[in-house]
Amino acid sequence: MCGIVGYNGGLDAKEILLKGLEKLEYRGYDSAGIAVRNEEGVTVFKEKGRIADLRASVNLNVSADIGIGHTRWATHGVPNKLNAHPHQSTSGRFTLVHNGVIENYHLLQKAYLKGIQMQSDTDTEVIVQLVDLFAKEGLSTVEAFRKTLSLLHGSYALALLDQEDEDTIYVAKNKSPLLVGVGEGFNVVASDAMAMLQVTDQFIELRDKEVVLVHKDKVEITTLDGRAVERKPFTAELDASDIEKGTYPHYMLKEMDEQPGVVRKIIQEYSNEAGELTIDDQILEAIKAADRLYIIAAGTSYHAGLVGKQYFEKLAGIPVEVHISSEFGYNMPLLSEKPLFIFITQSGETADSRQVLVKVKELNYPALTITNVPGSTLSREADYTLLLHAGPEIAVASTKAYVAQVAVLAIAAYVTGKSLGKGVVLDLKQELAIVANGIQTIVDSKDELEQIAEDYLKIARNAFFIGRNLDFCVSVEGALKLKEISYIQAEGFAGGELKHGTIALIEEGTPVFALATQEQVALNIRGNVKEVVARGANACIISMEGLNEEGDRLVIPKVHTLLTPLVAVVPLQLISYYAALHRRCDVDKPRNLAKSVTVE
Ligand code: M6R
Repeated sequence: MCGIVGYNGGLDAKEILLKGLEKLEYRGYDSAGIAVRNEEGVTVFKEKGRIADLRASVNLNVSADIGIGHTRWATHGVPNKLNAHPHQSTSGRFTLVHNGVIENYHLLQKAYLKGIQMQSDTDTEVIVQLVDLFAKEGLSTVEAFRKTLSLLHGSYALALLDQEDEDTIYVAKNKSPLLVGVGEGFNVVASDAMAMLQVTDQFIELRDKEVVLVHKDKVEITTLDGRAVERKPFTAELDASDIEKGTYPHYMLKEMDEQPGVVRKIIQEYSNEAGELTIDDQILEAIKAADRLYIIAAGTSYHAGLVGKQYFEKLAGIPVEVHISSEFGYNMPLLSEKPLFIFITQSGETADSRQVLVKVKELNYPALTITNVPGSTLSREADYTLLLHAGPEIAVASTKAYVAQVAVLAIAAYVTGKSLGKGVVLDLKQELAIVANGIQTIVDSKDELEQIAEDYLKIARNAFFIGRNLDFCVSVEGALKLKEISYIQAEGFAGGELKHGTIALIEEGTPVFALATQEQVALNIRGNVKEVVARGANACIISMEGLNEEGDRLVIPKVHTLLTPLVAVVPLQLISYYAALHRRCDVDKPRNLAKSVTVE
């Protein structure tokens, strides 16, 4: 989704801003821009399309050492050059970039800006025009900025330049992520540390509604009402090489290949000195104290939650509900007496999930976040965090984070079950090691998976994924993967539901991917396959060793029944990837999608 960068220091601001925006490209955007300030004033460059288009439009002769930049994912107003950020006040004095959504921008426009001709359709322009208005009324820039912030309802991360101030980027945030990075003789602003790792790994977290002045040689943080705040930087533990593609053509392929290593890393990170799987004591006690777990998540993370429910119920005997975060906010179910909320989120920034966390904290319930990003908003605001240790996931389509989420959920449920004396018999550590090897076998079978994609999906308009029990959880994830990167309409559902409606869609050649890894229901799913084949479907059975039959198109290595989602999802990821390649889709940056969905 939208990204922000800012630089104030001794070097060429425009190159640092452009490089920063390139690092944010993976988050999804449809236009981009930068503004730089020198003695001649502020110059804005912006373009619809890719950063490469913006780069081509930048006048290399403009040299400046302070500036701000933005990638925009359209919410208010179509994606075009006019609506791209930065936006300027009519006088040209103030220039602003904004992530988030201002809910009351129409009201503010009517109340304060009647005489002003807006230049764009964005909510952002209202903010910059308000700052200008209050400055014209005699307030200093920081006072005008504060007054404007006090009027805004909604989410924002903001970076503002004042033409009359050569040494300050004015910064604030509310519900949208924003960090200040510190360096020797320069300071930077970024909505994601990755953007500025090129110049520093020292970052300061900002809290909602703080007002921050980023100068070349110091950073001043104050509360909205002006009280000074002291906060030390933390070291961003990201390796710049983790966010490079290396020799891979796509991040998604690299990240799928990393999955065996991710599982092994998780085993290591969650093992104690005695070599036993463990989780933090406080987290264990919080889970044990709960009479019901409420898993809240979106998209792929929600699908991981569906698997997690089975783990906690089967291994620890704790009832679990899994909810889509955007639904939970306004349709809260009756809660148990001692709930524990578990937020699953790769990015830790998903606005839909965060709004639930805010409500949960207002109600004083405990919350645990399972995330890939230490220091992310949902991690900071929850009581406890379990990390995924998957390394940065750049491709919009989540792959290794899903596998990591399922593995961490398995460990948390297993450790809880053991601690509760539930007579858990499996050796999870050993079984996860087998899973890592199983995933390796699949990622090493790329030729076969590419052929499956070609055979089943090259000319398909739609596709179905069916499974029962845990295979059902994987089938919905398989369908999401396929639709988001190949744009083939896809649906995942429980095999038993076919005859209750969906079978009406089966016609000659319809691709149906059927998972058969669950012994208990293997015969039933094969029955479903017969039903669709009888109606012309082109069925691709993916079974597991030991349950395979002649004619199955792919047989995945045998793993413990409970852990099959970790392995069965991988061929579906790779099939989706190759289907998208056949269709010449932009695999890492699918249309209309953003990596981190920071608006509700
Ligand atoms: O960062 P989160 O896990 O909270 O993101 C939730 C979804 O937006 C995300 O899982 C999305 O569905 C994936 N990009 C799909 O591959």
